[in-house]
Amino acid sequence: MTTGPLGRDHPLALLRSRVRHALDSHGGLVLITGEAGIGKTTLVSEAVGEARRQGAPVLAGACWESDNAPGHWPWVQVLRGLRRAAGPGRWAEALEAAGPGPELLLDGTGGAGGSTGGPPMDGFALHDSVTTALVTVSRHHPLVVVLEDLHRADPDSLRLLEFAARHTWFERVLLIGTYRDVEAELPDHPLRPLLTALPAAAGTTITLGGLEPADTGALITRVHGRTPAPGVVAEVHRRTGGNPFFIEETARLWGAGAPSGAIAPGVREAIRRRLDLLPPEVTELLGRAAVVGREFRPALLAAICDRTPGEVERLLDRAGAARLITTGADPTEAPPPPGT
Ligand SMILES: Nc1ncnc2c1ncn2[C@@H]1O[C@H](COP(=O)(O)OP(=O)(O)O)[C@@H](O)[C@H]1O
Ligand SMILES: [Mg+2]
Repeated sequence: MTTGPLGRDHPLALLRSRVRHALDSHGGLVLITGEAGIGKTTLVSEAVGEARRQGAPVLAGACWESDNAPGHWPWVQVLRGLRRAAGPGRWAEALEAAGPGPELLLDGTGGAGGSTGGPPMDGFALHDSVTTALVTVSRHHPLVVVLEDLHRADPDSLRLLEFAARHTWFERVLLIGTYRDVEAELPDHPLRPLLTALPAAAGTTITLGGLEPADTGALITRVHGRTPAPGVVAEVHRRTGGNPFFIEETARLWGAGAPSGAIAPGVREAIRRRLDLLPPEVTELLGRAAVVGREFRPALLAAICDRTPGEVERLLDRAGAARLITTGADPTEAPPPPGT
């Protein structure tokens, strides 16, 4: 049986080639986006394996949604990794070139929004200092920095990432950021302006979609140890949209004897989380729409919900932006005559 990510040959080749470039000469930023469970972490782990095998440190930081997390928290984790990887001599050399920024972050006094009040360095100086530390160490060995789940970052961490992205293009520092685009692009997401600006600073953005039916079948086989019937694969693919986490959870449930259409608790939780991000009027409308069926017409929904078509359209736009629904052609409408 194969191991490693299924159905990701192209994005994997792209990311590996950016890693190889960084080991050699050029770094910068690569973004990996997609909904929860789509395989962002899996893809990055696979691709950075090559950097590790070649002795390049992989410095990882995960963003954490908490009022107690110190400012610049993902960068604090990266700097801890950098200090370890550099060793005392090279760390001292990096600090000499960079100034106090890294240590201010490491001792918890440098982050705007940190617990100790105002930052002792302004944003630009701090960002320049941290970037210089990375670049200085990278002169000895290339670095791969992975920042996971940027949709949960503090704003200053994103500003630092954008700064570092724009200043490492000609250095052996590759920055890889992952985030859930479906959440970050919601109109009221607080990080939306900062996150939507990031792709402009990135050389490459890789957006992951669902697996194809053949890979869905292969993943069910991998989880379950038995090849599923084609009908089961088609049903699981239709219900999960090819999301690997959803497929795994569904296959486990199916393996335990539940029907292929049963909803696994992990899937229910993930969908609830996505619905919770929407205003209640939108979720209520989606609940009504789900009763109509997998496909529904907005006009019918407006009649059922006692809302104007305009209101329904506005609420459905929100659900569309969260990629919970898609718009298709109305099968009851005649196609336009040829030549129009
Ligand atoms: N391409 C893939 N092939 C097989 N399994 C995958 C693939 N991508 C993700 N998975 C599995 O799906 C689950 C969720 O993947 P993960 O990388 O954590 O998603 P994300 O980081 O986007 O939330 C993991 O258990 C992982 O092993
Ligand atoms: Mg992840």
